[in-house]
Amino acid sequence: MSTLRKLYYQLPPSWRFVARRLYYWPYDLYDGLSGQRDAMIPPRGMIFTGSGDFKAQGEKMLEYFRTLAGLKPEHSVLDIGSGIGRIAIPLTSYLDETGRYEGFDVVKRGVDWCRKQISSRYPNFNFQHIDLDNDLYKSGGANAANFIFPYEDNSFDFVVLTSVFTHMLPSEVANYLTEIQRVLQPGGRCFATFFIWNNESARGTEKNPAFTFPYDKGHYRLMDEQVQAANVAFDETYLDQLIQEAGLKKEATYYGFWPGRKKEECKDFQDIVILEK
Ligand SMILES: C[S@@+](CC[C@H](N)C(=O)[O-])C[C@H]1O[C@@H](n2cnc3c(N)ncnc32)[C@H](O)[C@@H]1O
Repeated sequence: MSTLRKLYYQLPPSWRFVARRLYYWPYDLYDGLSGQRDAMIPPRGMIFTGSGDFKAQGEKMLEYFRTLAGLKPEHSVLDIGSGIGRIAIPLTSYLDETGRYEGFDVVKRGVDWCRKQISSRYPNFNFQHIDLDNDLYKSGGANAANFIFPYEDNSFDFVVLTSVFTHMLPSEVANYLTEIQRVLQPGGRCFATFFIWNNESARGTEKNPAFTFPYDKGHYRLMDEQVQAANVAFDETYLDQLIQEAGLKKEATYYGFWPGRKKEECKDFQDIVILEK
């Protein structure tokens, strides 16, 4: 793990937000003063959900939802770990007036931003804050391993989790897969990203020493033992078992370039898994 990443993880969650806000403050100030800020894109200092081109990544994901998992404009979509709108924003111009979007997240400031900037313009986009524990993103809250999603059975065509199961522990992922199965309609799909640990990724991590999972916990591995949700990799056989136990079927896996695979041969940094009910 890089030293900078290690230092960043050592800060309490609320300090990490402040550090980010301060680091990007001059850029955000410039964008604001020069009129370059797009109201539908959060200021850089508020994007707590990862680095990279926020807008381009969201659009790339939408392309994958359509082409790899059959998302349609009239679908009812659940975005778990909706963050600060990276997935919701491109969906606003894809879902039609019969489509529906629900998102939830454990970080209130992300949900608040999405409500203010997205729901106010697109009333069929709803965001909920759920106070669950996650040692990367916040301090305290209820256990996600027991959380019952606040939605009816069979009420979604499509469930998406981009870079969310990569920050959750096995008991939480097992519960979420069961809940996803419950809220999906028969035939509905789930698009989820993971770090999948298998013989190939284990060998491959030598090619990417800045991104490794040194702490072996049996059927999963951690990047950082102090901040367990920092990044979590799942043993592939164990993950398949969780998927099956939840009553879901794995349709496809698109392995990512995180363990040193050739970037041009991969869809994304993380592994993409398509599930079907
Ligand atoms: C790397 S960010 C990705 C956010 C968003 N999916 C995206 O692609 O921009 C991970 C998100 O998962 C959320 N999260 C962590 N644990 C969660 C949980 N148990 N339930 C729902 N969201 C969670 C975090 O608050 C954070 O917004």
